[in-house]
Amino acid sequence: MHKSIDSFKGVSPILGKNVYVDGSARIVGDVVLEDDASIWPMVAARGDVNKIRIGARSNIQDGSVLHVTRKSEKNPDGFPLIIGEDVTVGHKCMLHGCQLGNRILVGMGAIVMDGVVVEDDVFIGAGTLVPPNKRLESGFLYVGNPMQKKRPLNDAEMAFLKQSAVNYVVLKDEYLEEAN
Ligand SMILES: CC(C)(COP(=O)(O)OP(=O)(O)OC[C@H]1O[C@@H](n2cnc3c(N)ncnc32)[C@H](O)[C@@H]1OP(=O)(O)O)[C@@H](O)C(=O)NCCC(=O)NCCS
Repeated sequence: MHKSIDSFKGVSPILGKNVYVDGSARIVGDVVLEDDASIWPMVAARGDVNKIRIGARSNIQDGSVLHVTRKSEKNPDGFPLIIGEDVTVGHKCMLHGCQLGNRILVGMGAIVMDGVVVEDDVFIGAGTLVPPNKRLESGFLYVGNPMQKKRPLNDAEMAFLKQSAVNYVVLKDEYLEEAN
C-alpha cells in the first residue's frame, strides 16, 4: 500500500479509480476517496474516531487538515466529514466534522467547523470562518470571520465551481502520468 496511507483499528482507506495521493500526504483509517479525487502535498485526513468521505473529482489542496468528531451519548452520529463531488478545497483549509455538497469552492485558509452543512454550488472566500452548525445556502458567496452571507454568485462564478474541479482532474492526471 502507498506509504502515505495507513489503516487504523483494522480499517483501511479505500481509493476509487485514478485517485491521486501525493507522497507527503497522510490518509488514515475510515476514509473513502471516490474516482478521480486528488490529495495534494501535506494534506492530513484522519478517519480515526469517525469517517471521512470525499466524492468523485474533488480535490484537497496542499496543507489542508481533515478531521472528525467521535460519536457520543449526546451526539450518536458524532460529526463525520462528508465532501461531495467536484469540490475544490483550497490550500491550508481546515474542515472538521462538516458536510459539503457538490460543486463547492472552499477558499484558501478557510475553517469549517462541526455540524456545518454547505449546500451545492457555494463559494466560501479565502480565510472565512464558518462557525458550528451553520447552513450555507446554495448559490451564494460567504466571506469573513465570522462568516457573512455576502452576495449571490454570478454566472461566471457558478461555472467556475465546476471548472475548478475539472482543472484539478486534468492536473492530477498529469501527476499520475509522471509517476509511471
Ligand atoms: C471571495 C472572492 C472570490 C471575492 O472575489 P471578488 O470578486 O473580489 O468579490 P467582491 O468584489 O464581490 O467582494 C465582495 C466584498 O467581499 C470582500 N472580500 C472579498 N474576498 C474576501 C475574503 N476572502 N474575505 C473577506 N472579505 C472578502 C471584498 O473586499 C468586498 O468587500 P466590500 O463589499 O466591503 O468592498 C475572493 O476574494 C476569494 O476569496 N477567492 C478565493 C480563492 C481561493 O482561495 N481559491 C482556492 C485556491 S486555488
